[in-house]
Amino acid sequence: MYLTQESSVSSLVDLGKRYWLPIYKPRELVLDRGQGARVWDTEQRDYIDFGAGIAVNALGHQDPDLLAALTAQAHKLWHSSNVFYTEPPLHLAQELVEASGFAERVFLCNSGAEANEAAIKLVRKWAAAQGRAPEQRVIITFRGSFHGRTLATVTATAQPKYQEGYEPLPGGFRYLEFNDIAALEAAFALGDVAAVMLEPVQGEGGVLPAAPGFIKRVRELCDAHDALLVLDEIQCGMGRTGTLFAHVQDGVTPDIVTLAKALGCGFPIGAMLAGSKVAQVMQFGAHGTTFGGNPMAAAVARAALRKLSSPELLANVRRQSAKLQEALSAIGSELGVFSEVRGRGLMLGAVLTEAYRGKAGEVLDVAASHGLLVLQAGPDVLRFVPPLNISDEELSEGLSRLHNALRAVVAK
Ligand SMILES: Cc1ncc(COP(=O)(O)O)c(C=O)c1O
Repeated sequence: MYLTQESSVSSLVDLGKRYWLPIYKPRELVLDRGQGARVWDTEQRDYIDFGAGIAVNALGHQDPDLLAALTAQAHKLWHSSNVFYTEPPLHLAQELVEASGFAERVFLCNSGAEANEAAIKLVRKWAAAQGRAPEQRVIITFRGSFHGRTLATVTATAQPKYQEGYEPLPGGFRYLEFNDIAALEAAFALGDVAAVMLEPVQGEGGVLPAAPGFIKRVRELCDAHDALLVLDEIQCGMGRTGTLFAHVQDGVTPDIVTLAKALGCGFPIGAMLAGSKVAQVMQFGAHGTTFGGNPMAAAVARAALRKLSSPELLANVRRQSAKLQEALSAIGSELGVFSEVRGRGLMLGAVLTEAYRGKAGEVLDVAASHGLLVLQAGPDVLRFVPPLNISDEELSEGLSRLHNALRAVVAK
């Protein structure tokens, strides 16, 4: 029984502080509803949403087609598990295969970590099926990467801060510098590599794109050494960089791609797409999930996929990206706050100058007090991942709030 139903911001925040595992430090405001790229808190203050729930709400809030898909399915069937077929995940799998241009089969799951966990298991199973001994099944990942929080995906994540205290970690991972081709060639020369796993644009690690030609060279080395190329497009996929899949811009064909975040535009779902080399490797009983391919999630994802792959939406990403980059560079040079603006499409990072290093969190607080929600990627980088259908008006309003917030930061 609930004893009290207090609804002031401070009493709600206190509930979080009292009852949640204290692993998060949310900003002290309580969001209540959204529309397009705007959200409102419980005190009716409005915010422009440049964070989109960490690159998830790619069609903003309350997109009518997503809402219609969700409610239609909610009135029919919520869940069946994978011991029976339902329609939405069957169609979704076919549509993802067709949209990908490389995949033959799909595993549906619930989150990014789970999609990457499946990819890691698939690499190992593939290598095992080839008769490679366990020590010959090494997966290369890159410093600054982020692949999730399960034990295997946090081990793939080559950032000690996420791993500390969770040892012993699973073995068989090797970490290299991102974009360092010489290091990669040396690592392959050891003769034990089963796969390379990378984000075409590193997200959590600071919004750092792969250098031109880097992923192509990774692909060549994988081919030369019979290893798999696994691309984590959980943050940069689903249209975020201006093409449905980010790797299309790198001119490579991957063996495995993982998706989550914007795949459900806010309804939890993940997917692992498997190309011809690996599509048959996992057979009956090799892997599974209770909720993966849930009909409600799949119904929403089908509507999301249709809209996120439309030429109009992708054109909007490229157009708004150019405007956002230009405005960030202008604000940066006027106020001396950014040393670099980088990224692709609507996944942009503004690197703070020396004077503001380590202060991304403080900037985010000031931004929120000026009616703007924005993210950080580490302590030194502001991360901009707005809805991909953001309008001209929403973008300019957000930029004007950012400008005011940064003026306040500089005046402090
Ligand atoms: C590139 C990338 N991979 C994996 C993940 C993990 O996804 P999830 O939080 O849904 O488990 C994230 C989350 O931020 C991510 O950005």
